[in-house]
Amino acid sequence: MTAASANKDTLIHDNILDAVGNTPLVRLPADFDPEVQCEVLLKLEFGNPGGSLKDRIAIHMIRTAVERGDLIPGGRIVECSSGNTGAGLAMAASALGFDITVVIPDKMSQEKISAIEALGADVVITPANVDIDDPRHYTKVAGQIAKECGGWWPDQYHNTDNTDAHYRTTGPEIWKQCEGRLDAFVAGAGTGGTLTGVAQYMKEVDPSVQIVGVDPPGSILAHWWKHREMCESGPYAVEGAGEEEVPGAWDPDIIDDYFVIEDALSFHTARKLASETGIFAGGSSGMNLAAALKVARKLPASARVVTILPDGGRAYLSKVYSKDWMRDRRFLPPVSQNGATLQDLLRNRERAAVSPEDTLAWAVHQTGERGVRPLPVLQNGELAGVLDEDAAIACMVQGEDLDQLRVADFIQPAPTVLEATSPWSEALSQLQESECVLVRDGKGLVPFSRRDLIRALPRLKHEA
Ligand SMILES: Cc1ncc(COP(=O)(O)O)c(C=O)c1O
Repeated sequence: MTAASANKDTLIHDNILDAVGNTPLVRLPADFDPEVQCEVLLKLEFGNPGGSLKDRIAIHMIRTAVERGDLIPGGRIVECSSGNTGAGLAMAASALGFDITVVIPDKMSQEKISAIEALGADVVITPANVDIDDPRHYTKVAGQIAKECGGWWPDQYHNTDNTDAHYRTTGPEIWKQCEGRLDAFVAGAGTGGTLTGVAQYMKEVDPSVQIVGVDPPGSILAHWWKHREMCESGPYAVEGAGEEEVPGAWDPDIIDDYFVIEDALSFHTARKLASETGIFAGGSSGMNLAAALKVARKLPASARVVTILPDGGRAYLSKVYSKDWMRDRRFLPPVSQNGATLQDLLRNRERAAVSPEDTLAWAVHQTGERGVRPLPVLQNGELAGVLDEDAAIACMVQGEDLDQLRVADFIQPAPTVLEATSPWSEALSQLQESECVLVRDGKGLVPFSRRDLIRALPRLKHEA
């Protein structure tokens, strides 16, 4: 077995890699979009053990490299990845006994980076917003590291085994699950492996299946597909899809149409999918689904559209599924700055307060572990002040037993307290004078700093 083609009828797999592939195909509820008459089917690639469709290519690229002698037993794999290929390769490397270095641009979610580290990989972070020709670009860094350490660089962007993995597994699975009846296949492209590999298979078994690509604005792929010329790339927030150069694993000639989906629509579609259907998928799944719905709206009731959900929602809890993140980036509508209150700028974060009788150890824990600074001290529900951090640190430096000390002896005056319902401009004028204020809302007191204010300013719409 060279590609991921595990037999799900087998009750016990010999290893984790045999559990890759054969992911479910799930029908989108008919009432999800009232303008859609036909069937929309979702291929849940987050059902793979490494969490994404990239498990398929990880296994196939490694196994063919071993067969060719490019990767020797105990060797090192070095790859650049927006996260999911890194996780798939790290899983396969761990299961098969290879060392691995994964180079990731810094716009990717911390959850993805932590998962790759948990799988035993060395992670190198590179700046996301550098030109493709810049030696700091993640593809260049991966190539350089591979050269220096004599490792094997799968180079998923230009490796035909990437495309081949989807030709051998994803395409045939969809065809079988659909019992040979589908009208359109819709998917985004990063390396282009998924879209091209599935398209190659579909065009072989039924040339009438329409292949539709999806791109975020700022990627060059849709433009290249249409005009066969480069355009200026730009920033976008969706992860995994879109590119700034033409990847060798992507074949524009096999694609019948291309849609560009704005980040905001991608993320709102993913959030709607999670909250209305229980299918918890990543931001690019929202992008693919938004495009699939556009295709489906034009088709008759008898038609069938298939799209891919590349990965799951858990990797995006601090992004697409965080209201704060969505509001800070204007993916939720901004509030007029004339009517905005402090409530509009508050973040959903950990809260804590201590009483004067609590131990200093407990107070330090609340500040250190939960990041609540300054830490409010409440006596009988009334604000008595905040923890005096300087004095607390001095005791720690002197090695005093913090369990024997009481907060009562470490209280300093609290900064100004503002109501969450007050105009945000009140915080602005207070923060010109001090680093932090406390805001009182229905749940208690929460520190609000200059940094919080700066981060939240894009939530406001400037009006004359
Ligand atoms: C998270 C994610 N990974 C991977 C892909 C597709 O990958 P590729 O074109 O590299 O096969 C997509 C495409 O939408 C994606 O969103």
